Amino acid sequence: MYHQQLDDFPENFLWGAASAAYQIEGAYQEDGKGISIWDTYAHTPGNTYQGTTGDVAIDHYHHLEEDVALMAKMGLKAYRFSVAWSRIIPDGEGTVNEAGLDFYRRLIHELRKNKIEPVLTLYHWDLPQALQDKYAGWESRQTIVAFKKYCEVLFKAFKDDVKYWVTFNEQNVFTSMGYRWGTHPPKLKNIKKMYEANHIINLANAEAINLFHELVPKGLIGPSFGYGPVYPLTGDPQDVLASVNADDFNNNWWLDVYCRGEYPYFMLKQLQKAKIAPNITEADRKLLKSAKPDFLGINYYHGGTVQTNRLEKQAETANQKDFSATDPYLMQPEADQAQSPEIPMFNSVSSPYLAKTEWGWEIDPIGFRIALRQVYEKYRLPIFVTENGLGAMDKLEDGQIHDSYRIKYLQEHLLAMKEAITDGVEMIGYCAWSFTDLLSWLNGYRKRYGFVYIDRDDNGERTQQRIPKDSFKWYQKIIAENGKQI
Ligand code: NOJ
Repeated sequence: MYHQQLDDFPENFLWGAASAAYQIEGAYQEDGKGISIWDTYAHTPGNTYQGTTGDVAIDHYHHLEEDVALMAKMGLKAYRFSVAWSRIIPDGEGTVNEAGLDFYRRLIHELRKNKIEPVLTLYHWDLPQALQDKYAGWESRQTIVAFKKYCEVLFKAFKDDVKYWVTFNEQNVFTSMGYRWGTHPPKLKNIKKMYEANHIINLANAEAINLFHELVPKGLIGPSFGYGPVYPLTGDPQDVLASVNADDFNNNWWLDVYCRGEYPYFMLKQLQKAKIAPNITEADRKLLKSAKPDFLGINYYHGGTVQTNRLEKQAETANQKDFSATDPYLMQPEADQAQSPEIPMFNSVSSPYLAKTEWGWEIDPIGFRIALRQVYEKYRLPIFVTENGLGAMDKLEDGQIHDSYRIKYLQEHLLAMKEAITDGVEMIGYCAWSFTDLLSWLNGYRKRYGFVYIDRDDNGERTQQRIPKDSFKWYQKIIAENGKQI
């Protein structure tokens, strides 16, 4: 499809930026907050880059007003943040901590005062540690009960002030990292448990959506999924078949459940044969069918290229094989063959066509347009891009950050999104990742994504000064002109 003239962005398009509690807040033990699995994990030696933690992070907890003032200055229409469950219910299922609620009340109030639409994520990976200890976290249906209670507290507290809600952030990523590769908590390499935990989270997602529709009828809710299109390395039908497998394995396995209320047929059959399928009851099936998200949140960084897993084919392209467990979006089923009977259906390789970021992530704006088209065509839900951005080692030069590479990256992705809108994709908004620099889970503070530089690094907190980068001014202009210049 070629457009001479691109459509305008819709009026009221939500130009936003995003963050997550553990990555920015700090104050990890203040005002009654409980410990989360990420507090424990980052405190355990050897788990993160140079032992970096979110104890202080970028101290957003104590810079809330200043940070929102910067968002207002930028002209943001939406701000996506997550709530730390262990601030609201410190042990995950018991007493509600009013001081925790107050923090988010203040944040939402500040946002509203500045006409910034709050987009609230209920779960961005920081499960209360107590639930992990007591029930093995997402391996138990008890955690669904606890999650429902936590959701109810937030729905009731913020139903009049927050319209857009996200249930789970990147379920595909946190369960793969946590249960397949053992690089996030609970640090397991157990495929059977991974599929079981996913099923339990799917049920929790469905319960939360149904409860939301009862309690917040005017609001909109959906999950945020880390989506990437899958490309076959060549036109060889064997590679094409591998890409069909990878699409099931990487995307449909989650999205079909969220949006259609059922698991993809072939993949479920395969997991059943390998005896690693989750236990799905009739009541589960009904619940999954009953819950309909109002929109689909898409986090887009890049897609993936695959080839057949036939051995002689692999030998031909052995030099292109490039699997890195630090890149959560690069799929690779064979990494855990020692632990699991899972049958490998494809191999991930590096694309010969795409350049990479400093962190080895492919840069693929056309893949963004493809992604938006694919999910809209398949599920026909309005799409909210809840993350997209570039991680880089920004350098402070004379008190400024000239991040022209980030501007280029974002510009190309916004153009691809505008093309997708022109193609007909219905979009609610776009949240760049991230508003400020923040903790990059395993990679410390040197991998920066923000429009706002934070004066802190892996060695310490320094001044925590906020310094808008060149990309800040650029995005400010994009928002002011509703993307006309793209
Ligand atoms: C997705 C996650 O939601 C976010 O927390 C993370 O920092 C970014 N990807 C970048 O890796």
